Parts: sequence; structure tokens; C-alpha cells
Amino acid sequence: MVEVLSKIKVEKINQSRLPEVDFDNIIFGKEFSDHMFVAEYKNGEWQNLKIVPYAPINVSPACAALHYGQAIFEGMKAYKNEKGEIFLFRPYDNAKRINISAKRMCMPEIPEEIFMEGLKQLVQIDSDWIPSNEGSSLYIRPFMFASEQLLGVRPSEEYTFIIFTAPVNSYYSVPVNVKVEMEYSRAMEGGVGFAKVAGNYGAALYPAKMGQNNGYQQLIWTDSLTHEYIEESGTMNVMFQIGNKLITPSLDLKTTLSGITRNSVLTLARELGIDVEERRVSVKEIIAAARNGELKDVFGTGTAATIAQIATITFNDERFVLPEISQRELSNQISHKLLNIKKGREIDVRNWVLKL
Ligand code: COI
Repeated sequence: MVEVLSKIKVEKINQSRLPEVDFDNIIFGKEFSDHMFVAEYKNGEWQNLKIVPYAPINVSPACAALHYGQAIFEGMKAYKNEKGEIFLFRPYDNAKRINISAKRMCMPEIPEEIFMEGLKQLVQIDSDWIPSNEGSSLYIRPFMFASEQLLGVRPSEEYTFIIFTAPVNSYYSVPVNVKVEMEYSRAMEGGVGFAKVAGNYGAALYPAKMGQNNGYQQLIWTDSLTHEYIEESGTMNVMFQIGNKLITPSLDLKTTLSGITRNSVLTLARELGIDVEERRVSVKEIIAAARNGELKDVFGTGTAATIAQIATITFNDERFVLPEISQRELSNQISHKLLNIKKGREIDVRNWVLKL
């Protein structure tokens, strides 16, 4: 650890951009903090670790990621509480997950100590960028891409790993309307749906845009073979409360991202004594529950989205209006508890937060 620490060179910005930021009116992902952490992979090892001013990077037109898509990322957050204390939420889980994505995409693993030291030092240096108001946080985007100049189709031999950060408010400012997608697919068995691969998001843009043109902020993706089973919602995992059970698609088929917020919500729900089921979830049963009034709560979970209430679900042109947000005891309760944990207001019995 000491070795990694001493290897990170730090070049600070001359003039912070902080005074230009209107923290009350931040658009998600449009403001970026002063610095970024960069590491390069060459000759079989990670090297040249540095924190430098946030700025455009130099890539070759033949950069392999631009052509063959070796690009993966993570999303995580830092929180600041009323006392000015800073907490990272489950950062070791992101450090693990990026390497699951890396393996599937034939990319080198990023050692946990490089990920964590780069992250901690970066967040410390830009700690004034972490908003402390209730719905805000510092969104952290670690990512890795193939940076070798290369036209042949083979795994790149050079990679760049970067972490940059952005102060953010909620990703969805109001409850969202979603449509069950019956034509396009996000993932297939044997594919890369479980990994946080840039191409998963790029491929989803066209169907998502079609949905947005018709008033749906998000799609609910279904399995590519039959479109009968629900998978996820692209920017988030999805959960349904039917009666007193919390039901969510299982991760077995590897077509759904293993969300860290998903895992946190399921853990808290179980601790609250809720009956949780991770299994195949059919569109039919959700529609039947919506029809007979048993569908009490539907929400998405994700780092950016946190817990995003779903207002309506449309299936084959039939729109189901879900219960009023104020009546959704389960997601409201878990949302509140989760924020308290993230802000260090609850004792961290699960070892989820890292205080800086
Ligand atoms: C996240 O929740 O961190 C995501 O990566 C979703 C989205 C912003 C792409």
C-alpha cells in the first residue's frame, strides 16, 4: 500500500473551477471536478500512476477501444454529511466488479490497491466538490479502455484506467414511466449483459430513444429469446413488491448487471423481515399483479438512480398506473435507511462505508 501511495504523482490544478459551479442547478453528469486519476497498462504492468487536472485526453485514431469496443466502467458515489465527514459507499465492491467486467472483455485486472488508492486520494483532493445537501453526492466514474493503436482484431496490449468525479443530484428527478420492451434486446445468455461494458449502453440507446419519443424515460428489458421474462432497466435493476414479497430478476443467466445498490436493497429488505425472491420474473405475473391490485411498489435501483420509483408500466399499449409514491412504504423506508447509511448517520454494521 505504501508503495502504491508513493507511486502516485500529483499535479494540482492552478485555479479551481469550483466557484463557477451552481450546485443548486446541477444537471447529472455535466459538471466535472478539478482532477482525475490516471494509470497506464503497458508491457504487462500498471504504471505511470498520477492525479492530474481533469482535461481531455490524447487518443490515437487507431485506439483499439474506439474500433472494437474494449471499454468498461463503474459507477459509485461519495457522500458528505452535516459534519463534513466523507464516506465512500461500498467501494471495494466496485473494485471487484470492474475486474469481473475486465475478465470478460479480455482486459487486464486493475489491482485493488491501485483502484482504492487512486480513488481515495482523488476524492480527498477534490473533497470540496462533494455536495452535502440531502439529494446530492459526488458521482465517481472509474473506467478502463484499450488504448493501443491497433487495427487487427485481438485484445489490446495497452490500456488506460481513469477515475474522474462529478457532483450530482438525482438521476431521475421524478418517478419514471417505463415500457416493457418486446422487440429489442439488451443482453443474451453467453453475452456480456452481466458486465459493465460500454457497448451494453450504446446498443440500448436506439430502443431507449424510441421509448423516450413516446414518453417513456426507461425501458424494462426482457429476455432476448422469448421476451417473457424481465431482466433490468438499463440504468438500473428493477424490483417489484407483490403483496408482502419483494421480487427481482435473479442473476443466474448472466444477462443482468449485479448491481451494488440492488444487493444493498435486498440485504436491507431481508433484515426488515421482508420475503425476498430472486428468480425469473415473468411479465405476465407483474401484469396480473398490477391488474388485481397486488402490485404495491415498483422501483429501480442503481448508483446513479439510487432508488427510482416507477410511476407507470406500459405493456403492449396498456398502461398500468402504480400506487402513489407516498403509499410505497417499502421503497420509502429502504431509501431513507440507505441514505442514512451512506451519510454515516447509522452505525455501519455491514462494513459498507469507507470513511475518508
Ligand atoms: C450507474 O448507476 O452508475 C450507471 O452506471 C448507470 C448510468 C448512469 C449509466
